[in-house]
Amino acid sequence: MAIHKTQRGKPLQRPPSRSSILIILTATVGCIAVFYIASSFSSTKGFFYSITETSIQSSNARNHRDSEKYLYWGNRIDCPGKHCESCEGLGHQESSLRCALEEAMYLQRTLVMPSRMCINPIHNKKGILHQSNDASSEERWAASSCAMDSLYDLDLISGTVPVILDNSKEWHRVLLTSMKLGSRGIANVQGVSREDLGSKSSYSNILLINRTASHLSWFMECKDRNNRNAILLSYSFLPSMASKKLRNAAEKIKVLLGDYDAIHVRRGDKLKTRKDRFGVVRSLHPHLDRDTRPEFISCRIAKWVPPGRTLFIASNERTPGFFAPLASRYKLAYASNYSSILDPVVENNYQLFMVERVIMTGARTFIKTFKVDDNDLSLTDDPKKNTKAWQIPVYTLDIREC
Ligand SMILES: *[C@@H]1O[C@H](CO)[C@@H](O)[C@H](O)[C@H]1NC(C)=O
Ligand SMILES: *[C@@H]1O[C@H](CO)[C@@H](O)[C@H](O)[C@H]1NC(C)=O
Repeated sequence: MAIHKTQRGKPLQRPPSRSSILIILTATVGCIAVFYIASSFSSTKGFFYSITETSIQSSNARNHRDSEKYLYWGNRIDCPGKHCESCEGLGHQESSLRCALEEAMYLQRTLVMPSRMCINPIHNKKGILHQSNDASSEERWAASSCAMDSLYDLDLISGTVPVILDNSKEWHRVLLTSMKLGSRGIANVQGVSREDLGSKSSYSNILLINRTASHLSWFMECKDRNNRNAILLSYSFLPSMASKKLRNAAEKIKVLLGDYDAIHVRRGDKLKTRKDRFGVVRSLHPHLDRDTRPEFISCRIAKWVPPGRTLFIASNERTPGFFAPLASRYKLAYASNYSSILDPVVENNYQLFMVERVIMTGARTFIKTFKVDDNDLSLTDDPKKNTKAWQIPVYTLDIREC
């Protein structure tokens, strides 16, 4: 009441200011109202906006999935041998997987990847193989294979080529949908070229292309690699897609190594020899055994790696201390020096090699066994590819050669 009186009193005493007070009051009330309405409106708008956005996003995702088309090459990478019982090393299978990924990129389809990768027993020292003759072929497969997502980060791969695994819910949904769609559901193709799959309208609307790739090696479908335009993914693509666990382990080891150089020394499988009809030993890589021995490595790399450097060695050579002579010039490091980091995450040699590759990529100077690209440094001048020429191994070296 008192306030009312005073308010009323003032305007009565000073009529001219009454209107100004009214204006101020009106303006204030107006401002508050505008502010209130605006804030409530904006929050309401924000509320609606976020709902709309979410529904747009989810319907996008749904549309995306509804319009998604798939490419399936089979449930195993390669299938050599009569009953797919053997398999090649990681690099070989990666060439095949890369070939399938390139086709998926070319066709703008999601690749359905095998959920497991076969492990060649000679590439596995961890001894998880317990082959018994009464085990079914499926059981043997489970024992001699590892989960694809324990090797690769599928989300990372999907950033470049969308992929799903053939044990995923999405794959089962695709199979169900393909059955419901009838003739538009699935096309089983064999011996159809990538270009035809891409250009013929009879394939473009089909949900799932089931391509029967070369049984021996999927990469036979990518014979065109000499044609540089046909290459959509580089050799380094899959090695850089290692699973998070493996990448983390490699990063920890890289930190411990500090500033280092690296060599990859392929012996083992590549040293294979056979005797010709005169009983003379021959090899497909006649200088490899020599060039991958420590004295020759030391001679060859001296011009690239100064003494005193930390040298990380990745090799399939299993003779203990084989590379020890290199210690007179370099501080040697192997994956085995970091078993406390690796043992908890590495279950087989494929995973170990994935970690080693990430470490080698981080080296200041990296020397491969064979030269692959023009800029590569290599331990040997023998070509990597199979020349089919079995030659007599060479063990001598003119010192001026290195
Ligand atoms: C794909 O085609 C092969 C060969 O025709 C067939 O054996 C296999 O069952 C097919 N896979 C699917 C998922 O339809
Ligand atoms: C790695 O282990 C070897 C012995 O196997 C040792 O000679 C070498 O000094 C170790 N390297 C590092 C970097 O710890």
